[in-house]
Amino acid sequence: MSNASPVRYSLAARCLHWAIALLIFFSIGLGYYLTTLGYYDPNAQSALHYHRAIGMLALLLAVLFCLLHLLQRRPSLDEVKPWEKIAAYVMHYTLLFMMLAIPISGYLISTSAGDAIPLFGDISIPAVMTLQPDGARLAEQVHLILAWMTGALALLHGSAALKHHFIDRHDTLRKML
Ligand code: HEM
Ligand code: HEM
Repeated sequence: MSNASPVRYSLAARCLHWAIALLIFFSIGLGYYLTTLGYYDPNAQSALHYHRAIGMLALLLAVLFCLLHLLQRRPSLDEVKPWEKIAAYVMHYTLLFMMLAIPISGYLISTSAGDAIPLFGDISIPAVMTLQPDGARLAEQVHLILAWMTGALALLHGSAALKHHFIDRHDTLRKML
């Protein structure tokens, strides 16, 4: 194996990156829609069901993506200035943390009373712990804040990638395509 860093992220990492990005943006939209519905709205139950199931799928993919991050060699960030490299590291680790923390906090809200989360068909995910009402409210606040923060951070992160591609003409974006 050569010591040079790879030119691109692995195919698996690239597929997972874009799938997770899509699922997170979609989940923010669906999560927001969810909160605009009243309890008795006929769509409320099914919107919540899809939000949970899609969010748990995002969690599964995020775990795989984090494993690849640990196990695989990644392209270097050497095309950018030193301060940008530090900013990119901080952003990447923040986003890796967020993609786990958002669905986990959602899971804690939904299982706070000890109920399992029904997914598709007969498959459901059991509760591992119950929370007091205060704990459930905290999980709700964490979920909400992390989700909206991540939307903003991901836009910043995507804008940086587009700036490096179209303005600086670096290969930054190509590593992920
Ligand atoms: C990438 C994954 C996820 C994202 C980006 C996301 C995002 C959001 C957003 C933006 C809201 C609306 C917050 C607000 O403005 O009040 C929300 C609400 C909610 N989400 Fe998620 N979510 C994700 C995963 C999950 C998962 C996996 C579950 C449960 C298994 C879940 C359960 C909930 C619940 C129960 C609410 C309603 C909270 C309330 O009543 O205030 N979410 N989510
Ligand atoms: C919710 C959305 C997103 C999340 C959570 C996310 C997360 C991440 C993470 C964690 C990495 C580092 C991967 C690693 O070190 O293993 C990364 C790299 C990258 N992302 Fe995103 N991303 C998102 C959206 C986007 C968007 C919209 C774009 C482009 C328009 C983009 C372009 C890139 C590029 C080009 C890299 C490689 C950067 C480099 O190595 O120089 N991402 N992303």
